[in-house]
Amino acid sequence: MHRLTVENFGPIKERIIFEPKDFSIIIGEQASGKSIIAKLIFLFRSLRDDVMKWMYEESDRLSKGSINRVIRNKFLKFFGRNKPMPSGFYIKYEYSKKVYVELTSREEDGLLWSKLSNDFVNKFNEIINLRREISEKMKRIKEKKMEFLTSAELSQLEEEERRLLRPIEERINILFNDSHIPIYIPAGRAVLNFLEEVEIENMDFLMSMFIKRVVSSKRKFSESLESLIESEKGFPADEERVKLLYKVVNLVYKTLKAEYRYEKGEEFLLLKQESEKIPLQFASSGQQEVLWILLLLFQIMLENRKVFLVIEEPEAHLFPSAQKLLIEYIAAFLNLTKSHVLITTHSPYILSTTNILLLRAKADKNYPFLILAEKIGAWYRSLREFKPIIDTETGLIEENAIDTVSEVIAEELDGLAEAIYG
Ligand SMILES: Nc1ncnc2c1ncn2[C@@H]1O[C@H](COP(=O)(O)OP(=O)(O)OP(=O)(O)O)[C@@H](O)[C@H]1O
Ligand SMILES: [Mg+2]
Repeated sequence: MHRLTVENFGPIKERIIFEPKDFSIIIGEQASGKSIIAKLIFLFRSLRDDVMKWMYEESDRLSKGSINRVIRNKFLKFFGRNKPMPSGFYIKYEYSKKVYVELTSREEDGLLWSKLSNDFVNKFNEIINLRREISEKMKRIKEKKMEFLTSAELSQLEEEERRLLRPIEERINILFNDSHIPIYIPAGRAVLNFLEEVEIENMDFLMSMFIKRVVSSKRKFSESLESLIESEKGFPADEERVKLLYKVVNLVYKTLKAEYRYEKGEEFLLLKQESEKIPLQFASSGQQEVLWILLLLFQIMLENRKVFLVIEEPEAHLFPSAQKLLIEYIAAFLNLTKSHVLITTHSPYILSTTNILLLRAKADKNYPFLILAEKIGAWYRSLREFKPIIDTETGLIEENAIDTVSEVIAEELDGLAEAIYG
């Protein structure tokens, strides 16, 4: 299990320890550090992906120094900070007991400093050596075949190299104790639909990464979701999976109240009732916010990939009933793909809906949109504390955590009513 420790960074003054679950929910006040926690988890979990890329590129970036450099660069991109760190600043990310990274401030100038644990360095060096051996081996094979190679022979060589690299891939996954593809869905997603007016390169790094991902996915959605299922379902089709995918499509339509289409560079929503084409920039604010959560998750389910997904404020601009549909959707996503999801939220509805799905799992194991108690974790973040809010007896999210916000408001209302009407 991974573990994040943070102390004295931004609004997080006290030491907090966070061990995410397969499905983690962080709810809490404005500017209390929810997104900081989510970004830090993403920063460290996405390192595996960088190392994997270096290994395939066979680049000289596969070194201990470049891991440290990439951590510091990412930190700068995520938090825009290259001034001295506050005193007492400390961050630790544990991939496993002995494999971890620590961030502190450098003695001489107080700037960000990162350090890998001994086990991390040793295991990583083993991986680098293995990679070198394979490069040597491939070089010898290629040298032996001095004669002109046919394209068939070339692709045979590439196949051989991939086969040799597989055990390294396995080792990288073991080192990072992870095999998920990292994807970050930021808040304020509707901006995506007004791209002409906004410079992507000047945007927040995570937002620009997200936009690039969406831009490359758009083209796939030139036909209905049903026909995408039909063309991807494989042969022989896994009937159970296909059935669940159809149910998932139904949730998309119910949440979006429309179908999305990309045609010749134009984006539309097709409204079901009116059979009318609405250019995306005129869609409702809820539709614009939720669209790419729905479609990206659908694509991941269709391609059957295992991802680590951060979704910031999935409830944005959604009516409570649509928030419930969205949580059902995420539940189906978790069950279909074995992915991990971390969400930050302001919405008590997200918590109570999650409780419904936790109870569903107890009542009916065959219900398609259920959440298993052992997979979920929920935390409440305020400026003073970071605390788990799962009731250990029932396995549900605590009622009073859900009511905290509304309680404060209700009390004020009661107090006023009392003063006025007696
Ligand atoms: N690099 C940084 N160093 C210090 N403070 C920072 C840094 N980056 C952001 N902050 C501060 O941290 C706070 C924001 O934290 P964060 O974005 O995690 O809040 P949040 O809980 O997600 O809030 P919201 O609910 O509004 O999204 C802000 O007050 C911001 O000024
Ligand atoms: Mg936030």
